[in-house]
Amino acid sequence: MNRIQIRNIGRIGGISEGEACTHGGNLFTNGGSLFTHGGSLFTHGRNEGSIWSSTENAWLLVEGKHIIDWGPMSDEPSLPPHTEVWDANGAWVMPAFVDPHTHLVHSGTREQEWKARLQGASYQEIAAAGGGIMHSVRSLRKAEFSALLDESRIRLESIRSMGVGSLEIKSGYGLDFDSESKMLRTTRMLAHEYPDMNIHSTCLALHAIPPEYREDANSYVRKVTQEWIPVWAEEGLIDFVDIFCERGYFGLEHLDALLECAHRLGLPVRAHVNQFSVMGAVKRAVEGGALSVDHLEELDDADLEALKNGETYPILLPGCSFFLGIPYAPGRKLADAGLPVVVGSDYNPGSAPGFNPFLTLSLSCLKLGLMPEEALNAMTIHAAGSLQLSDRVGSIGRGKEASLLFLSGLKDWSTLAYHFGQIPPLRVMLKGRFL
Ligand code: NIG
Ligand code: FE
Repeated sequence: MNRIQIRNIGRIGGISEGEACTHGGNLFTNGGSLFTHGGSLFTHGRNEGSIWSSTENAWLLVEGKHIIDWGPMSDEPSLPPHTEVWDANGAWVMPAFVDPHTHLVHSGTREQEWKARLQGASYQEIAAAGGGIMHSVRSLRKAEFSALLDESRIRLESIRSMGVGSLEIKSGYGLDFDSESKMLRTTRMLAHEYPDMNIHSTCLALHAIPPEYREDANSYVRKVTQEWIPVWAEEGLIDFVDIFCERGYFGLEHLDALLECAHRLGLPVRAHVNQFSVMGAVKRAVEGGALSVDHLEELDDADLEALKNGETYPILLPGCSFFLGIPYAPGRKLADAGLPVVVGSDYNPGSAPGFNPFLTLSLSCLKLGLMPEEALNAMTIHAAGSLQLSDRVGSIGRGKEASLLFLSGLKDWSTLAYHFGQIPPLRVMLKGRFL
């Protein structure tokens, strides 16, 4: 087993100590003292906080895939035999990013539509004219599995080089059994090819109503929830299920059908809600036990109340608002309500064709109103919680996976968000190995 002692670390951020962080779990404690944030105590069941200003001038020991221990250089223990030593030379360390919402597997891009938007067309108008998601569906249905895999692998290589160690990937551009299966198998193949990452697969067959069912959405939803999802679950192709609740897409009765199917099969639900309209989907999803509600650009008081009373993670996607020019989700308000705000990229060819986590971090501060350390938590430990992964990734903790970013040139952690869109000098370690 490889054992690496990393020496001369400038600072370690994102430390969590104490109880394991689990969704709906116990109060997060930090080595005995309660973690406070913005002046108020973190008491919400889901709040998995972590500490961003900590041990300076430190060592950290990695064994195999895991973090074993760390401490100040002044107190460095003698090295166990057969330990490799790596001098961080003052670089700072933080946990690798977790991206809980991507559509990374897709075929081709949509520059034509983007140019139409630059000239005034809206995302909804383009979709109504047969473009948008349906554009990507037509191209995905034609794509060979190997071509789809090659194209998706290039993106995966890029996102991991930027420091994302765990991510979720949705289907949803196939909308028929074979094409959705092709997408899900692509995601599983990527997970197989990159065992140093955690890659989770979400079935989003309820992304849009396919042309074959244009006049009969109910039959399509029945097909997906009663026939297709059980098969994919049985084949081990999916970890989560998702739906796009929106006017012209799927309604509350369809969300109910998905919640029922997911419950039957023991699959957690994620749901695209409130991107363009408020239709009661947040409350329905929370009450139905959804793991996350994603987007929330439009949010009313009843939605906020439902989130406060539930256990569902709010996942915000500022890259989508940036690219579509739509309102941003009320991140500050959600954080002030004590909710464990999560931020993801929503990377996809239509509404967010970018996954640079450092740009997403800046947008989280500038546009969602989060402070840099809150934004870092949103993209690490909270994001991990929303994928049910917070016992393994998302913070620096003893026994957690050694998926770490080494960064230089930082004045404090805010530097990462301050240079918007820039990727700082970076080395990435995933599960104990440097890329
Ligand atoms: O999360 N809102 C629905 N789905 C995607 C966009 C998909 C597309 O335009 O291709 C999203 O923004
Ligand atoms: Fe999305």
